[in-house]
Amino acid sequence: MSAVFDHVEFDHHEQVVFAHDHQTGLRAIIGIHNTFLGPAAGGVRMANYANMDDALTDVLRLSRGMSYKNALAGIPLGGGKAVLIGNPKADKTPQLMQALGRAIQGLAGRYLAAEDVGMTLADMEEIALETNHVFGRDPKAGFGGEPSPMTALGVLLSIKTCVRRFMGRDDLRGVRVAVQGAGAVGADLARQLGQDGAEVLIADMDSARAQAAADAAGGQVLSVDDILCADVDVLAPCALGAILNDVTIPKLRSKIVCGAANNQLAEPRHGQALAERGILYGPDYVVNAGGIINVSYEVSGEYDATKVVEHIQRIPKTLEQIFEEAADEGLTPDVVADRMAQRLIGRS
Ligand code: NAI
Repeated sequence: MSAVFDHVEFDHHEQVVFAHDHQTGLRAIIGIHNTFLGPAAGGVRMANYANMDDALTDVLRLSRGMSYKNALAGIPLGGGKAVLIGNPKADKTPQLMQALGRAIQGLAGRYLAAEDVGMTLADMEEIALETNHVFGRDPKAGFGGEPSPMTALGVLLSIKTCVRRFMGRDDLRGVRVAVQGAGAVGADLARQLGQDGAEVLIADMDSARAQAAADAAGGQVLSVDDILCADVDVLAPCALGAILNDVTIPKLRSKIVCGAANNQLAEPRHGQALAERGILYGPDYVVNAGGIINVSYEVSGEYDATKVVEHIQRIPKTLEQIFEEAADEGLTPDVVADRMAQRLIGRS
């Protein structure tokens, strides 16, 4: 495993914690990238990483992304992330979640946890038995609940912004959108796109899930292999990171890429590769901030869904500003977004 300080994704993380519990087998890494704006906040991801190096790379990239996301979303939180190593379908137990809760509690509020891929609302409640520093909790208890509908709303508004800018269209009627991933965010996004008159194509590894989402959106299922290069106006990646790479970019046929998945660019240079193909890219962490905006209102202790929606409605303005600066300076939107975020977290 690469040494942490020399890791190519280290980027001056303030703290990286390796948490273990011998009774439950807990193996987790918590990355605290930057706390300039407030305590580091970001989701817990549970995944069956092939090795420790993959888990470390993931947590470092994701926690830096959270610093940038929270800064550009205008919320008083820093950036952090936790990865829990294991199969979410086979290895999850209440005791494991509680052990993670104790590890989070040990950080005394420097890291605030929420839900990410492989975790559920019920898991958040188990973690909460051991720590107060966990959010995205049950709405019946006055918390914000699943962040994914708010994430989907932010993605929808971002797609509309990109369509307005690049296609000169004020509505989505007849606009063709390919959604990769029919999970919590992708399915909800597809439904909202369908309601707005878009033509939705959707794919998921789980074909039943893809079909249900397509039905709800009045759209069609496409195969997992075909979705990225579908002949559409907009590609909305809502599954995995690193899907914009040397192999996929030459095959894309969309005019716009705008979706929820974190870390869509395999490497920073892929932002330029998209621009060279004439594709408008909505920087992922700007587009997908709805969920963490929801969490931030929980953290403030004054959860109010109306205020959350109003805050999410500001994402298009940030996106417009990024596109404007990028056009004025001949830069790509991802470079401009990173630069804005670095200024806000005291790194420029
Ligand atoms: P999820 O786990 O509910 O859904 C992901 C879906 O992608 C699953 O249905 C899975 O079967 C599918 N999938 C995996 N590989 C695929 C492939 N190669 N082709 C097609 N489908 C594939 O996750 P969720 O919550 O919907 O998140 C989606 C993405 O958005 C993730 O990258 C996540 O990090 C990101 N995100 C989610 C937020 C949220 O509020 N849930 C907030 C910000 C980002």
